Parts: sequence; structure tokens; C-alpha cells
Amino acid sequence: MSASSIPRIPHRPAIIFLTGLSGAGKSTMANGLAGDLKSRGLLTTVVDGDVLRTGLSSNLGFSEEDRRENIRRASELALHLADLGAVVIVALISPFRADRAAAADRAKAKGIPFAEVFVNAPLAVCEKRDPKHLYKRARAGQIPSFTGIDSPYEAPTQPTLELRTDLESIETSLSRLISLVFALTENSSGAA
Ligand code: ADX
Repeated sequence: MSASSIPRIPHRPAIIFLTGLSGAGKSTMANGLAGDLKSRGLLTTVVDGDVLRTGLSSNLGFSEEDRRENIRRASELALHLADLGAVVIVALISPFRADRAAAADRAKAKGIPFAEVFVNAPLAVCEKRDPKHLYKRARAGQIPSFTGIDSPYEAPTQPTLELRTDLESIETSLSRLISLVFALTENSSGAA
């Protein structure tokens, strides 16, 4: 392939950081957004907590300290991928404001556009959905320190975008997310 035929990435990198309770819809939103962006030719990837915890963060548990380290690793990985020009979609419960603020600060320091997206459904709704049957097990005392049950979730106070996944359709949430990505990445220079 000659240099001139290598496709140019016609967008800026960005980090879209999805936070919310287990079962709120973070992975659904992340995968839906990534699929849409790929179909439009954007370079994009998902950094998902459930996946990280089978590999890069497999040595971590769910103490406050381990969650902080998990989020730090995910953020650093996202920065590396954004350095390559990707729109990186991070999907983590990330229950503590300070950890999310630290991720935002790291991106800001590197000049990478960053958006905090609150994927929000009330605990009762997440618990009813319970796609992995984890809330049931947490209520039964089989999973200690489960977010929303016996471990806190600090909701964002000023997220870039809030998606009420209990009130709006997946399609509506996704189209709002896509608009956000285009607002963050719109410029054709490829510079951050
Ligand atoms: S975070 O708090 O460190 O950001 P992360 O997003 O990586 O969490 O992982 C959350 C996923 O781990 C949940 O969706 C669930 O599948 C699983 N999980 C297992 N134990 C817990 C727990 N104690 N609290 C929350 N999620 C848990």
C-alpha cells in the first residue's frame, strides 16, 4: 500500500467515559455506539469493565482501592488508544467522582476531548433487569461490596450527557450519544 492510499482518519480522537450502575445499560450503549461509529468509518474501540476484569484487571477486586486502580488502568489504556487516533468508549461502573475526575484530568492534560456520560437507570430498575443475576446474589449476601447494595455509587453532578435508559429507547439514547461524539470530534484536521 502506498502512503497516499492509506486512509486518513478524518476525525479527532476522544474518550467517551460511560459510568453507571451495573445493569444501567453501559455495555449496550458502548457496543451500540461503537457499531455505529465503525459503520461510519471511524476508528473506535470499547474498553469495558467486564472485559478488563478478565485480563488487564484480573488481579483486582471491588474494594475502593482496587476500583480506583481499575479505573486508572482503563483510563491509561484509553489514552494510549486515543493517541492512535481512536474514539475510545470506556464503560465502567466507576462509582467514585474523584476517580472519574482523575480520568478527565489525564485526558485534559493530553489535549484529548473527554466526555463523562451518566448511563442512568434507578437502582430498582437495574435490580429488576438483573441481566447477570448479580443483584439477586448480592442481596443474598453472596457478593460483598456490590455497587448500589452495600457499596456506594456517587452519581455525576454535571455529566456531559445523561442517558435515562429507563425512560428513553435504546435508539434515542444512541442517537444522543452519536451527536455527542460528532460534537467532540468534528474537525477534519486529525489534531487533538
Ligand atoms: S468498577 O467499580 O471497578 O468500575 P467494573 O465496571 O470494572 O467496576 O466492573 C463491574 C462489573 O463487575 C459488574 O457489571 C459486575 O458484572 C461485576 N461485579 C462483580 N462483583 C461486583 C461488585 N462487588 N460490585 C460491582 N460489580 C461487580
